[in-house]
Amino acid sequence: MSAVLSATGPAGPAWTPSSWRDRPIRQAPSYPDQAALEAVEARLRAYPPLVFAGEARRLKQQLALAAEGRAFVLQGGACAESFGEFTADVIRDTFRVLLQMAVVLTFGAKVPVVKLGRMAGQFAKPRSADTETVGGESLPCYRGDIVNGSEFSARARLPDPLRMETGYFQSAGILNLLRAFAGGGYANLHQVHRWNLGFVERSPLAARYQDLAQRIDETLAFMGACGLGGNAPQVDETEFYTSHEALLLPYEQALTRVDSTTGDWYGCSAHFLWIGDRTRQPDGAHVEFLRGVRNPVGLKVGPTTTADDLLRLVDLLNPWNEAGRLTLISRMGADGVRRHLPPLLRAVQKAGRSVVWLCDPMHGNTVSTASRVKTRSFDAILSELRGFFDVFAAEGARPGGIHVEMTGQDVTECVGGAHQLTEADLGGRYETFCDPRLNAEQSLEMAFLVAEELTTRHRAAAR
Ligand code: PEP
Ligand code: CO
Repeated sequence: MSAVLSATGPAGPAWTPSSWRDRPIRQAPSYPDQAALEAVEARLRAYPPLVFAGEARRLKQQLALAAEGRAFVLQGGACAESFGEFTADVIRDTFRVLLQMAVVLTFGAKVPVVKLGRMAGQFAKPRSADTETVGGESLPCYRGDIVNGSEFSARARLPDPLRMETGYFQSAGILNLLRAFAGGGYANLHQVHRWNLGFVERSPLAARYQDLAQRIDETLAFMGACGLGGNAPQVDETEFYTSHEALLLPYEQALTRVDSTTGDWYGCSAHFLWIGDRTRQPDGAHVEFLRGVRNPVGLKVGPTTTADDLLRLVDLLNPWNEAGRLTLISRMGADGVRRHLPPLLRAVQKAGRSVVWLCDPMHGNTVSTASRVKTRSFDAILSELRGFFDVFAAEGARPGGIHVEMTGQDVTECVGGAHQLTEADLGGRYETFCDPRLNAEQSLEMAFLVAEELTTRHRAAAR
């Protein structure tokens, strides 16, 4: 029997890894050479999976805890990874900042933090227009390095299927280093805390962060005194998972495998895959593809989502109401979160559906400066996070975590923060290939402020 027939499909109409091809699709590149595309797909189908289904199941269990408020998710990384930044430094620095944020958030949330990188595969980008016009010349838009090149030339902008193979091999290389760091001693808790102390010392807001850092210091000393020293696996190792938007479906399909231990289909390009705000049509190709793989999956929920749409999508993506299967990533904007989120949260709760809710405070807060540079303000990002936590508190529900675009590099893409980056500073190191990211300092600051916020809320709730 072929793998297609033996694998267990999802609920509803027949699903196969290619059933998305019969649905309307948005944001798909037009490859000029079908034979070349098919040859790459065939090679990718034969390559080893990047992740193992058992890992995706383990992540799903941890997300099930987050759905109940017994874990807190930190999902973060680049808006778009780029082939040109495939270096140990870039990978290590982002990983390190995510670990630093996770320690602070663990302390604030008082529950384990699930670490989920937007890394090792976050290459494809949805765009608001199919073409870009410069000086009277119109070319196909840039759709991420896994599709075409960012340079404004007809040659670079032509979708090239060979880029999918490069994306696969780069993802394999990044994952390899992440796995080595996570298990090889780099993630040691004492070490990560020392890095945080260095950050606090340098910050103009040192006095504000000192208290939290001091308390973590004491806790670690206490743990050491109890015998949980540097070599205990809980202190020396961490679990780290990968995720990206499942946008480029020929690539995702080619990396879909039947798990030999369960007979179920898994998307094996990453542990966690999500559907973007532009491709969440219930009868569309992206929803069709993701409903059939058994990974934990995400859905971006923007301000135009209605409660009916959302419940329909929740049914399609999580028909058995399996805990940990579905993560809703709210991205409403600082001005919209208090208005748009409550009816959606209530509808999901009323329907008795188990989901993890994350706040993405980035994508609803992108603005253009007078000189047409895309940026986001640290204050707007923080304000959306606070709005999100307030909405959950008002509904008596537990927030599941946060989703951020950040980098371990010292870039100048978002304005504000303790170092008070201004629009005039954006020219310094503006390196993103897509959306503006928090730099290393801004990311840590955000983690400290969120931890402070969560601590205050805990205290209030305990009173
Ligand atoms: C993204 O996460 O990079 C993205 C494009 O988000 P959204 O689909 O929410 O706009
Ligand atoms: Co983005």
